[in-house]
Amino acid sequence: MFDNSFIYNRHSVRKFQDIEVPMEHIKEIIKAGSFAPSGKNVQNWHFVVIKNKELIEKIAKAVEEKNKAVADKILDKNIKEKFTKGLRYQLAFKNAPTIILVYIGEYIPTGYNELKLAGAPQEELQALLDTASGVQGVSAAMENIMIAAANMGYGTCWITGPMYAAKEISETIGFKKDGYSLMALTPIGVPQDKDIKSPPRKPIQEIMTVIE
Ligand SMILES: Cc1cc2nc3c(=O)[nH]c(=O)nc-3n(C[C@H](O)[C@H](O)[C@H](O)COP(=O)(O)O)c2cc1C
Repeated sequence: MFDNSFIYNRHSVRKFQDIEVPMEHIKEIIKAGSFAPSGKNVQNWHFVVIKNKELIEKIAKAVEEKNKAVADKILDKNIKEKFTKGLRYQLAFKNAPTIILVYIGEYIPTGYNELKLAGAPQEELQALLDTASGVQGVSAAMENIMIAAANMGYGTCWITGPMYAAKEISETIGFKKDGYSLMALTPIGVPQDKDIKSPPRKPIQEIMTVIE
């Protein structure tokens, strides 16, 4: 009855063929991202595109080094091992021909300054910040990017695992924009595997409450 295949065709892709993604395609994908909604239409996003394979490897190395530096300080063997093993997922961008780094700009939620001026308690102010309106807008853009890419035959993977090394990643690529910080990244390329499946979803009745 309805064709939502453009949604269901997106899967997390972690292995890519060695095929370049043309800049024109990347521009179209970023443009699709920019058509996402954002609070007050602030468009508080910035996308850094990296096609240089050596630089992508350097980013992966910076993450690996930070992972080791952190793991070396952890005494609990299980926690340490789990964190180190997680590198596989933290580095799921490593063999992609292109990556897109997603930066988020500062966003003050509607009513925050007003609540503060009205003397609202810290708990209430924090609850408003926790709604993360700024993150909601950038996440919408990121999802648009991934769906547009899938529609054009490319694979992507939303990756936040290496964000504990966000500072090192930005230093490695030499990118700085006032008020912006690294939030996530995605590899982008032609998937190696033709038949990718996503993990199962919770049934609708479990995730939906209808109040009549
Ligand atoms: C906020 C967020 C962070 C994620 N971080 C990672 C990550 O660091 N590494 C990774 O391999 N996948 C990561 N994923 C991908 C999820 O594992 C994946 O979306 C989920 O398993 C569902 O699979 P699907 O994307 O194929 O539908 C992340 C997804 C989201 C939304």
